[in-house]
Amino acid sequence: MKDLGIKAKRVLLGNNLGKSTKPAPKQYPHQWNWDSAFIALGVSNYDAERAGDEIISLLGGQWNNGMIPHIIYSDNEEYFPDQKRWDIHRTKKAPANVDTSGITQPPMITIAAHKIVEKLGAGFGQEVYQKLLSYHRWLYRERDPNNEGLVSIIHPWESGIDNSPRWIGTLDKIILTTKPKYERKDQKHVAGEERPTNVEYDRFVYLMDLARDFDYDQKQILANSPFVVQDVLFNSILHKANECLREIAVKIGKHKSDIDEIDNWMKTTRLAFKHKLWDSQTNMHCDYDLRNNNKICENSIAIFGPLYAGLVDEGDAQLIAQHLNDVNKYAPSLGSTKYYIPTTSKNSKHFNPKRYWLGPIWVNTNWMVIRGLERYGFTDLADRIRKDTLTLLEKGGFCEYFNPYTGKGHGTKRFSWSAALAIDLLSDSTK
Ligand code: GLC
Repeated sequence: MKDLGIKAKRVLLGNNLGKSTKPAPKQYPHQWNWDSAFIALGVSNYDAERAGDEIISLLGGQWNNGMIPHIIYSDNEEYFPDQKRWDIHRTKKAPANVDTSGITQPPMITIAAHKIVEKLGAGFGQEVYQKLLSYHRWLYRERDPNNEGLVSIIHPWESGIDNSPRWIGTLDKIILTTKPKYERKDQKHVAGEERPTNVEYDRFVYLMDLARDFDYDQKQILANSPFVVQDVLFNSILHKANECLREIAVKIGKHKSDIDEIDNWMKTTRLAFKHKLWDSQTNMHCDYDLRNNNKICENSIAIFGPLYAGLVDEGDAQLIAQHLNDVNKYAPSLGSTKYYIPTTSKNSKHFNPKRYWLGPIWVNTNWMVIRGLERYGFTDLADRIRKDTLTLLEKGGFCEYFNPYTGKGHGTKRFSWSAALAIDLLSDSTK
């Protein structure tokens, strides 16, 4: 296991872009939003200064309305979509000297920043607080105009779980009058059967073009886009991020009005999870499709987000954790899967053990579930998942995702957050 930590550091060094880290050598050659946050969380265990640089560099891409974009481009490395396709400089809200995408990703950045404040002290908190606050304010102002305590995502890429089975129904309803023109580059280094389908990609590109054509005006996008969804996992992460932002605010001596604002977001979210998203038939929270006005009740890894965020009482936490003990859903058993946790329930008609987020095990989602289970005192289950995660990494290397039956690694190799979160999990025994 000691070796695993050394190898993980080597992967991160290999993906170093200077002040930030790319997710993978060729497949993802720029800086990604929640990747950088996961990377910083891991790196903070041995080099808090460098973890701080990762966060500062991500904030360098922040728009002047507060949004933190999902990609910050570094040079002209081959990638689709490239910076030209986003064409962000058509709006004055975009930063003048940086090329970024025009959408966001789950706000893990605040959670990572909070951990770095614990290591480096209040000075780092002073440096980043206002920027993080303005990001959270953007999310609520522009993506939750009716103050439901639930922000919407306007693109599957914003969920971080790009081809989640949760998005299939909504994407299927999008009628493409013309097929967008583009050339996929993601299948150059990774087998096509492990990546999203062309049908999904057409819709991904259609939705990004649409946001661009509205000049990234969020009001227009919310009113017109066929994809406007209140995502359980995104909102869980935001809730946890609010908890972290609040602690930073207290630590750096912010006024009560700032803290009240954050408390208010958290209170509203808690109620919305209970009254709008909870489904007592299936014992899980469902996403909500605002365009088509329906709940999306697909059983996937997202249902464990509320544990990570501390959004439920003990009783509901017990009900949610039960899904992990079910051999038809997530639990390993003889003759079935061998490792925790497939990203889609095994009994879903969309389950596929090789294809991206439709079933393979990802290290970041395992990590989040471990932290959620620990939070509610389910330590045995957390220990089992930690053990499985480290075994997969040891056997298969720092792959992007893993087959839950065989443990075989899929996707790109030398994937940064697999390495960074391995370091975080390894350091648990010394915490
Ligand atoms: C994929 C993943 C996303 C990640 C990105 C870079 O798009 O779905 O979560 O941020 O790759 O690693």
